[in-house]
Amino acid sequence: MCGIVGILNSSSLKNNSIDILKKLEYRGYDSAGISLFSKERIKTIKSVGKISELKNKAQNVSDKNFYGVIGHTRWATHGVVSKNNAHPFANDDLTLVCNGIIENYRKIQNRFVEIPKNIQSDTEISFYFLTYLVNKYKNSDEAIRVFKSVIKGNYAFVIFIKKNNCFYLLKNGSPIALSHNKNSSYICSDSSILSDYSDKIYHLKDGDIIKIQQSKISSLNKAKILFEKNEIKQNPYDKGKYQHYMLKEIHEQPEVIKTTQKNYVKEFFNDFESKFKNLILNKKIIFVGCGTAYHACLVGEYYFNKYTNIDTSSELASELRYKKINKDEKILFIFISQSGETMDTLMALKYIKKNKHSSIVITNSLQSSMVREADVTIPTYADKEVGVASTKAFTCQILSLANLSIEIGKMTNSISKKDYNKNLAFLKLLPIKLKKLINDFTPEAKKIAKKLSQSDTCYFIGRNIVYPIALEGSLKLKEISYMHSEGFPGGEMKHGPIALIDKKSLTICLSPNNELYEKSISNAEEIAARNGKVIILSSVKIHRKSLNTHNVSLPKENFIDTPFIYTIPLQLISYYFALNEGTDIDQPRNLAKSVTVE
Ligand code: F6R
Repeated sequence: MCGIVGILNSSSLKNNSIDILKKLEYRGYDSAGISLFSKERIKTIKSVGKISELKNKAQNVSDKNFYGVIGHTRWATHGVVSKNNAHPFANDDLTLVCNGIIENYRKIQNRFVEIPKNIQSDTEISFYFLTYLVNKYKNSDEAIRVFKSVIKGNYAFVIFIKKNNCFYLLKNGSPIALSHNKNSSYICSDSSILSDYSDKIYHLKDGDIIKIQQSKISSLNKAKILFEKNEIKQNPYDKGKYQHYMLKEIHEQPEVIKTTQKNYVKEFFNDFESKFKNLILNKKIIFVGCGTAYHACLVGEYYFNKYTNIDTSSELASELRYKKINKDEKILFIFISQSGETMDTLMALKYIKKNKHSSIVITNSLQSSMVREADVTIPTYADKEVGVASTKAFTCQILSLANLSIEIGKMTNSISKKDYNKNLAFLKLLPIKLKKLINDFTPEAKKIAKKLSQSDTCYFIGRNIVYPIALEGSLKLKEISYMHSEGFPGGEMKHGPIALIDKKSLTICLSPNNELYEKSISNAEEIAARNGKVIILSSVKIHRKSLNTHNVSLPKENFIDTPFIYTIPLQLISYYFALNEGTDIDQPRNLAKSVTVE
């Protein structure tokens, strides 16, 4: 979703800002722009489409006589995709960019005659409103304060006002960070990108109004601006030998799972009882997330059901935030979010906090807003995920839930010490198993991808712990290939969805070797009997052979590693099918990496 960059007092304003916008590409966008500024002049360049378009347009513009730049990648919410609606919004007096949504923009538009009535974009309306205030108030700080007090919503603004030659940062809800190096300042909505420019960082807090005037940084809301060390150092934007980030990230899974597991065993879940007992005991647990993270929540339910006696359920964050929550019941909410910034999940977290419930966040982004809100953070060590479709973050989330469930099981005596150790050993072996699986399954995935192109639609079915994996497989396929797809619990097919089956459909049936195996194969056969093509993924080598089914062998699984073993093949199938379709795999249409608006 939208991205912001700002640079002050650097010798390479144009190239650095475009480089940073390029790094923000992974978030998803449809247009982009930059404004170069000095105390005499503001020069703005905007374009629709890729950053390469913007780069071409800016080719002959020199940044020599400017001292600052702001830039933006826009993912349209209010107002169509167009050059006009792209940010920055600028005139001779000021320029601004915004992430997030201004909720009361129509009210502001109706209240001030100075704002044209045909404008659609909430940021453009905010821009006209601020222009009006800057003209009205002699003191630009005052104009900014009034602006901040009127606008409502979740946003991050970066603004340059020529009159007093000042630069302002405003935050409420949307992330924005500032780093400082000698005289230069770097601003970005993704703080991990700033580690390339300075190792000192300040994450703005909600309510912050930061002013920068001739390298002097101050706060208009009297906040203490304490710069901390920016730890992130790796370069996640190097694709190496891979054609896409997604494929690179699929292949990284054995390694990041190894690191995550090592950190959990050696450090994080060490001394589990003293760290977690009070937070967990005597509470019901509700998992919360969106999209892929929600599928991790559902996997969590099956783990907890198997290894603990705790009552758990899952909620979509976008639904939970508008539901009534029982205040008398003691609930622990476990939020799952790769980015830690997803607006729905963040708002749901704030909502349950207001209702005095406790919270854990499982996240891949330790500097995110959710980390600052939750009682406890459980990190996943997946490293930065750049591809829009989540892969390695998902498997690390389920690894986190697997560990949490067996730790709680051990603490509450719902699993024996022997079973706990056995499961830990299975998790330790996962990286080797998954590495082999990726290599062995790749040729198979390519074959299945070819088969898929003869179908109009693809269904995924699974029961028990692979039911959420069926949902995830379907989400991955539709996200990156745009093929129509659904995921169903196998047992539900005859309650309605089987009506969809015809010879143009392909169903991928996940059939691990467990007590539901036979039932799962029966579900597959019922589909095949109705002329639907079926592919069975299973560790059971010999199936009852029936018409229209194609069997593919997977490694032997145990309950705890089942979701990993069935997820990776589906990621590879989606990837190779999308590759054949020629879609934009790392930045699929209409999608954003981090959904920071509602
Ligand atoms: C799908 C995907 C999304 C995210 C969802 C939540 O591949 O990536 O469905 O899982 O938008 O994002 P996070 O985990 O950042 O809260």
